Amino acid sequence: MTRILGISGSLRKASFNTGLMRAAAVGVPDGIEFETATLHGIPLYDGDLEAEGGIPEAVTVLKQKVIAADGVILFTPEYNNSIPGVFKNAIDWLSRPSADIARVFRGRPFTLAGTSPGNFGTILSQNAWLPVMHTLGAELWSGKRLMLPKADTLFDAEGKLKDEAAHDRLAAFVKAFADHAKAAKAV
Ligand code: FNR
Repeated sequence: MTRILGISGSLRKASFNTGLMRAAAVGVPDGIEFETATLHGIPLYDGDLEAEGGIPEAVTVLKQKVIAADGVILFTPEYNNSIPGVFKNAIDWLSRPSADIARVFRGRPFTLAGTSPGNFGTILSQNAWLPVMHTLGAELWSGKRLMLPKADTLFDAEGKLKDEAAHDRLAAFVKAFADHAKAAKAV
């Protein structure tokens, strides 16, 4: 069984990126287990909070999910041509304490996907993640790219992915990443 974890970087209920993540989890091929996670409950990083109370429960839960995964997909929105603060904040927490960076990130396959109502489908936020992944030592998979523009036309009123072509691209992306994560696990 290859375990893939999706993390959505948007908190809003009707998030297109959370909708994309949910669509990715539906109907995965046999042999893939797709778990989803959101960032609800993760506080703003504050060194004083960490010094006084350690790692918050919501961060520990997310960290355990990452550690249990053979591969992680970050479903990233784009804010002002970069990474939304809430998402960067969560990954910053996951890098604490720094002694944990190796077991959370190092050598673990990560990849990026995203959708936005604009014309470029999160290309700039995906690019902005690259130095973050690099510095954490994650193994960034770039075998395919998934940037879906015009998100407002792809989802129905309930936030379900309704566009068939987008669905096909998403499924191919997840399958290719899972194949990679499986092969990486076997090494
Ligand atoms: C945006 N949005 C946006 N979209 C984009 O493609 N490029 C951008 O630079 C920005 N900048 C931006 C800044 C801020 C502060 C907000 C709130 C929004 C629009 C964004 O893609 C849109 O709100 C998406 O719906 C956000 O993703 P979720 O929440 O639907 O997953």
